[in-house]
Amino acid sequence: MFIIIKDEAGMSREAAKLIAAAIKRKPRLVLGLATGSTPIRTYERLISLYKKGGLDFSQVLTFNLDEYVGLPEGHTQSYRHFMEKNLFGKINIRQENINFLKGDVADIEKECLRYEKAIEGSGGIDLQILGIGQNGHIAFNEPDSLENSRTRAVNLDRSTIEANARFFTRIEDVPHRALTMGIGTILEAKEIILLASGANKAQAVADSIFSAPSTETPASFLQKHSKVTFILDAGASKMIEMKKV
Ligand code: PGA
Repeated sequence: MFIIIKDEAGMSREAAKLIAAAIKRKPRLVLGLATGSTPIRTYERLISLYKKGGLDFSQVLTFNLDEYVGLPEGHTQSYRHFMEKNLFGKINIRQENINFLKGDVADIEKECLRYEKAIEGSGGIDLQILGIGQNGHIAFNEPDSLENSRTRAVNLDRSTIEANARFFTRIEDVPHRALTMGIGTILEAKEIILLASGANKAQAVADSIFSAPSTETPASFLQKHSKVTFILDAGASKMIEMKKV
């Protein structure tokens, strides 16, 4: 399903509405979350719904998609810190209900296995929020990631390092490795919402919808899922609109 809305504010409003409805239907929702610029305003809307008193996160469980290797969770550039700043610290979620990959562990393989088991133990992710990279990645599943890939350590694409450098003082500071849920892990979520905003995502969005599923565009594997909603603004949906004409 596609929801195409004029701008980023509309995309965020729509996403927050769907997430809030899911929490109201199931207070103990297992919610998969993403970092990056795209979901920030969605998180702002969720915070505002919470503050108005209509949304309760006290039973919600979360699993974030990914984390940089080497950064401890307190590091200002860690994704765990990003989530605390942009969502968790401003709502009534319980710290023990927040699940995160730890980027600074000695045994990465064990950590990835722990995460897979924790997802399974929670009953599985009910609703997974995704962004998309300009190279078509979902989470840190860069091109060449396999459809059945599981949570693991990956090397980041040069294009991803360059895109994420805006969050760091110097490009040299961007970690080159990350832990990420796999494509297979993501596809097991019961429902998925992919958010994309801006013309720089239009090609990746079009490839993920119109190209046959392939490792070239990891997001194209979402075609194999039966319940995915793309929420796109005008820029990100530009090439879909052209295709319709
Ligand atoms: P962005 O990143 O939201 O910062 O554009 C999305 C992604 O890389 O998945």
